[in-house]
Amino acid sequence: MKIKKYRVCIIGTGYVGLVSGTCFAQIGHHVICVDNNKEKIENLQKGILPIYEPGLEKMILKNKRAGRLFFTTDIAEAVKKSEVVFIAVHTPTKENGETNLRYVEDVSKEVAKAMDKYKVVVSKSTMPVNTGQKIKEIITKFCPKGLTFDIVSNPEFLKEGSAIKDFLKPDRVVIGVESKKAEKIMRDIYKPISSPIIFTSIESAEIIKHACNAFLATKISFINAIACICEKNSANVKEVAVAMGLDKRIGPDFLKAGIGFGGSCFPKDVSAFINVAKKSGYDFNLLKEVKKINKKQREIFLDKIIKNVPALKGKNIAVWGLSFKPNTDDMREAPSIDIINELVLKGAVVKAFDPVATKKAKEVFKDKIIYCKNAQEALKNADALVILTEWENFKKITPEIIKKLMKSPNVFDGRNIFSPQKMARLGFNYYSIGKK
Ligand code: UDX
Repeated sequence: MKIKKYRVCIIGTGYVGLVSGTCFAQIGHHVICVDNNKEKIENLQKGILPIYEPGLEKMILKNKRAGRLFFTTDIAEAVKKSEVVFIAVHTPTKENGETNLRYVEDVSKEVAKAMDKYKVVVSKSTMPVNTGQKIKEIITKFCPKGLTFDIVSNPEFLKEGSAIKDFLKPDRVVIGVESKKAEKIMRDIYKPISSPIIFTSIESAEIIKHACNAFLATKISFINAIACICEKNSANVKEVAVAMGLDKRIGPDFLKAGIGFGGSCFPKDVSAFINVAKKSGYDFNLLKEVKKINKKQREIFLDKIIKNVPALKGKNIAVWGLSFKPNTDDMREAPSIDIINELVLKGAVVKAFDPVATKKAKEVFKDKIIYCKNAQEALKNADALVILTEWENFKKITPEIIKKLMKSPNVFDGRNIFSPQKMARLGFNYYSIGKK
């Protein structure tokens, strides 16, 4: 397959920017990653990553060595050297649910000022519908007169923990375009990736991203609501989810009941999409309920602990897992934050272990909790074990060992990693999600 190699730059080295940049280099393009955080760039130049993502470090080193991947703080130079400019900066949510587009707007201005010939400017960050047009207006206003450019929306569907696979083997690539010229360039760039490419309008692409995340969050809240009903009726939500998932119209993914979704995307994108809907004159009550169920799921779990470990003050609570999901060190919107803060407030002594998130968790919990070297250490003398992230390694520790190390065999499993029957047989007081 003949592949045309492009010179691209990615502005923003967060999750999306760093993974996308590295993967574009991996498929043969010449990539410059840009960030205004000097320390981050200096570290990346030395091969030190700001995030934990399986396989990423190795891939960065490989592509750096091959002379395809570069890191800089100089946005103007990176833009000048590139045919395609990807914007992958943060789009945080304001207090009122609106998306803060300041970083996108600032970067668009800088890109415009640095432009010296035709470029394709692609938004990769999740942005509310019509942001593409805003970027177009800014670039038109600030770029040298007479220059032409195209804007594109190419949202990312990377899951933390499997981001590289999601980039290189996606279910589909979504590209919103306005011109045939940009469509051809984008098709060329993605040529080494053998997944279907869906070309749409820019506005559709923007909505697709929000709609996907909102739908997946809805699936999770739906199964969590079912879990509450299962608990009250001696049913088992795992059995219910398996049977539901075998219906092809429903599908098996994102039907794991637990303590709700966290992370940098779902909570933010659900709120942002509610706001997009409101601005479009539609009251998206369904999504408001999705948010409510998600919050409630943590409260229900906490109540179980409070009710079943009376007088929490001074009790030793072992916590397994701090990141919002396994295979990442990301603490953003992690359910562990609300749950642990509340346990600490009630006077519990929290002894926590996470395989990779401890460093980031220290920034959140400071010295409010004790950080353990391994899962077993957290269990010693514990009055209860609280499982908040389903790391694979936790599943390998047998209930027999758990019981031996703990003072009282109370297990609150927010991720359903053990068998309730086995735990009961071994004499545990085992509280999970969606099972009696
Ligand atoms: C998500 C989207 O999946 C991805 O396409 C998008 O681009 C970014 O946001 P991510 O946040 O990395 O990815 O994680 P994901 O695997 O989707 O999980 C999100 C949250 O939902 C986690 O807290 C996870 O624990 C929770 N979850 C997921 C469930 O509670 N049950 C499930 O069945 C699946």
